[in-house]
Amino acid sequence: MCGIVGYVGDEQAAPILLDGLRRLEYRGYDSAGVAVHDDGRIELVRAVGKLRNLEKALTENPLTGTVGVGHTRWATHGRPSEINAHPHIAGPIAVVHNGIIENHLELRQELEADGFGMSSDTDTEIVAHLVHRETKAGRDLLDAVRRALAQVEGTYAIAVLSTEQVDRVIVAKNASPLVIGVSREAMYCASDIPALLPYTDEMLFLEDDEIAVLEATRFSLSTLEGAPVERETQRISWSPVMAEKAGYKHFMLKEIFEQPRALEDTLRGRLDRESADVNALEIGLTDEDAKKIERVVLLACGTSHHATVAGRYWIEELTGLQAIAELASEFRGRDAVIGEGDLVIAVSQSGETIDTLMAAREAKQKGAKVLAIANVIGSAIPRMADASFYTHAGPEIGVASTKCFMAQLANLLMFSIWLGRRRGAVDDAQATEIVEGLARVPHLIEERLQSTHESIKDLMRTFADAHDVLFLGRGLSFPMALEGALKLKEISYVHAEGYAAGEMKHGPIALLDAHVPVIVLLPRDRHYDRSLSNLQEARAREAKIIAITVEGDSQAQALCDAFVEIAPTHEALTPFVSVVPLQLYAYCVADHKGTDVDQPRNLAKTVTVE
Ligand code: AGP
Repeated sequence: MCGIVGYVGDEQAAPILLDGLRRLEYRGYDSAGVAVHDDGRIELVRAVGKLRNLEKALTENPLTGTVGVGHTRWATHGRPSEINAHPHIAGPIAVVHNGIIENHLELRQELEADGFGMSSDTDTEIVAHLVHRETKAGRDLLDAVRRALAQVEGTYAIAVLSTEQVDRVIVAKNASPLVIGVSREAMYCASDIPALLPYTDEMLFLEDDEIAVLEATRFSLSTLEGAPVERETQRISWSPVMAEKAGYKHFMLKEIFEQPRALEDTLRGRLDRESADVNALEIGLTDEDAKKIERVVLLACGTSHHATVAGRYWIEELTGLQAIAELASEFRGRDAVIGEGDLVIAVSQSGETIDTLMAAREAKQKGAKVLAIANVIGSAIPRMADASFYTHAGPEIGVASTKCFMAQLANLLMFSIWLGRRRGAVDDAQATEIVEGLARVPHLIEERLQSTHESIKDLMRTFADAHDVLFLGRGLSFPMALEGALKLKEISYVHAEGYAAGEMKHGPIALLDAHVPVIVLLPRDRHYDRSLSNLQEARAREAKIIAITVEGDSQAQALCDAFVEIAPTHEALTPFVSVVPLQLYAYCVADHKGTDVDQPRNLAKTVTVE
């Protein structure tokens, strides 16, 4: 998704903008650009492809000036090209934009009829011309942006410069994210926190339909209708180092290795080992609320959806309530039956995924209560939700989610225990086993990470050239099979399918031969014997078997071409330990193939288009 940065201060803007764009690279992009006020003019440099191309263009064409905006573009309207890259200029105005202007065709016709010539195929250029039309009518920049935005339908985060008011950047948002960074000497804006971390930890999250004027030493906030807004800034405790690679070859590998810490931070202060319970005061739901819930509906996309499938199993098992895990994108537009008595749990690493946001919003409008599980504080989904239960995984930069998935699993299991305890569905013994076991999981993962990485680096070579890979699991291992397949697909571009092991004989078995590796998840749980039978069925079709087995499981290991051992755990905790080798397998195959692990082709970290 597109990334925006802006700077107003007394230092040279271009290097700060470029640095901010680099920190937003994980969002995915195909072109980039910056615009800076220089001596009464707006100077623009844009380039297609990676940021190094923009950097080169800036070396050939240096920009001087202390106020500017920058952008990484992920094409939606108009192919990736220099002309379509942002910023877009119209007269004295420059605009960068993240989102989609839905009525752009209609507005384009209207503007062209008014004599405004377009130079790109983008929807964004329309916004620049709309603002220009308003300034031509004599309005100041703030008023012009307000009036321009009143004419657009769709989603946006924008930052606007004008040669007529060179000391400021105007920012506004609807649905797409925008955060303002506040320091004594300068104001910043960006699509996401990591872009601003080296400069300030004091931030303010713009709400929908708000607009702000950023000047070097102050900012003012108001609604699009013009009502002043007073809101405190928040202190963000993430350090810039948390968003750097720290010696790892890729962010994804660093984030896989950070999982014990991400889990510890997420569990901290929440697991109440003394009473085998979960302290969830922060959620703001009372014991009475817990008793009134009739059904739980989990909404999410992609990896977060896989966490919710595990969440569904935990909720049913530990609370006795019916739970369903829905793809947010499928929940929408079909008039889903939902309402009072339903608790919706919307799960999202970014907290900004538009499908999840819109689906949760629809559920709320129909009377359901919405609980957000998100990693980015103050992001859109927690803001619209009735209650929030944040994961504390720290910034996740790799496009392929790993540590946030781990933290989502933790929050979903903790919430299930909390709800189960309130509803009297979990007894002390069961709760003690799970709570105690969960507290030990970070250590169980930590002690095997290095050796698992080494053994996967080794065994992966035999299978890395496969064109198709099948992942099988039952019960809680089924969503991990889905996640293992998604990880492999997204970063190594190998076709992979995650399947419920019992479903293999209903179709995918036809694919099996000596060229198809099958990765079977075999924790020692209630499904073990049946999963072992499925493994043998695959083996009988000459498929190559890689098993994820509990340490010392010689019975399963004897039936495999290769195996990776996981620590024994309570069966409710198996997802935490079994997903790690799957993440490492995907990573090692991708690294072996030399793909762009942290920014896989066509993918974006935060998906703010439908
Ligand atoms: C994860 O590896 C993916 N890149 C993707 O599926 C992601 O999980 C999905 O887009 C949802 O994002 P969210 O958690 O920020 O809502």
